[in-house]
Amino acid sequence: MRNYKAKMVEPITLPSRERRDAVLEEAGYNAFNVAAEDVYIDLLTDSGTGTMSDAQWAALMRGDESYAGSRSFAHLEEAVSDVMGFPNVVPCHQGRGAENVLYGCLVEEGDVVLNNAHFDTTRAHVANLGGEPVDCPVEGARDPDIAGDFKGDFSLDRARAAVDEVGHENVPVVVLTITNNSTAGQPVSVANTREVAEFAREIGATFVIDACRFAENAEFVRRREAEFADASVADIAREQLSYADALVMSGKKEGLSNVGGFVAVAEEPGGEAAAQLFERAKQRGILYEGFPTYGGMAGRDIEAMAVGLREVVEPPYPEARIDQVATFGDLLSEAGLPVYRPVGGHAVYLDAGDLFPNVAPDEYPGQALVCELYREGGVRGVELGSFAFPGVDRPELVRLALPRRTYAREHLEHVADAGAALLDRRREVRGLEVVSEPPVPELRHFSAELRPV
Ligand code: F0G
Repeated sequence: MRNYKAKMVEPITLPSRERRDAVLEEAGYNAFNVAAEDVYIDLLTDSGTGTMSDAQWAALMRGDESYAGSRSFAHLEEAVSDVMGFPNVVPCHQGRGAENVLYGCLVEEGDVVLNNAHFDTTRAHVANLGGEPVDCPVEGARDPDIAGDFKGDFSLDRARAAVDEVGHENVPVVVLTITNNSTAGQPVSVANTREVAEFAREIGATFVIDACRFAENAEFVRRREAEFADASVADIAREQLSYADALVMSGKKEGLSNVGGFVAVAEEPGGEAAAQLFERAKQRGILYEGFPTYGGMAGRDIEAMAVGLREVVEPPYPEARIDQVATFGDLLSEAGLPVYRPVGGHAVYLDAGDLFPNVAPDEYPGQALVCELYREGGVRGVELGSFAFPGVDRPELVRLALPRRTYAREHLEHVADAGAALLDRRREVRGLEVVSEPPVPELRHFSAELRPV
């Protein structure tokens, strides 16, 4: 059941077929280079693109823009403490700002960071600090056809193997990303969270949860983990986060705001490197983000995020959110598209691996699918396969992320229709080759240009 209605609308238009063909060529076959006004249904990301509530818009007006001691920051601290259980907050302009602040305090040249799966900005920050990001997904996590309630879980076996190889003294940080964005938005169980916390304690590492989508994860736990069948999303979220020493958060996801983020540190963080972590994060925050009571955000944005954090765990919102994404997955499956199963929390992922008979595996079938969805329906998705993650062994996934509280079923039906239309001419689709790319390979999908082979 949906507990909201629209009271402000934004016009969107579907450009003509000729225009869409021209846009693809002008954009170098990279959806990041397409102007938003040329996009009809924008499923590039669920980050900062959602619809704010009237309470959030009202809160914007009350933003305290003081440089120091802003009342809005006090509201954020209260919200983070109430909803997530963390008393120490370092505000940052968005999630990757929080990553820079926190990992900059914990990771040094030559260190190894373990994560159920690094998101691209996390991977890039660890690498930028001279560390090595190592993914520890569970068996089958990257298989689009294997059933599983918690395919986002962290593999203790892989993590132990990594520690045996490099030595625990070189693993200062263990990260759990909930839900697991690089593994099709799959959830992580609370049982796994407890085990990872224990493992991090054993090796003396700081245990960080990347909490961008913590409420979606909690809704999956409520549905799938027997221990929590009668618990509320709010209680599950607090329980799951309570095992972490620190959080990195992008408010652009489940802060339900258009910008913002923070680092949060537990009362007594564990890990050898974690002594006075809050203090050090605050100092690093001043350098990169701003004074510790605004951290790169306007006071009004802080207010909107503080309100959003409370809304995101309030029923029936999380239930409606997970239901809408599941419905989208069903519509796409019915249209004949290869949907990663089970469907995750914030997006439907398609497996483009064998979709196009005339596209060779090294001709970016995922990126070809992104382009064809745009050509057919003005729909914008994002490739998360060999184009985005060169050299990483993973399926050719395309993500169609749903902005929160934004699109209705008709929009989703349009996307499914576009998918069905492109399947009708799948034999004509050509692969792509990279024409130019930036120097940082981890970030190449944001700006590289391609052309049909
Ligand atoms: N961690 C995860 C798991 C993310 O998904 C993101 C962003 C970040 C950190 C960084 O946060 O964008 O506020 O700087 N994910 C977006 C996406 C961009 O489209 O999945 P940010």
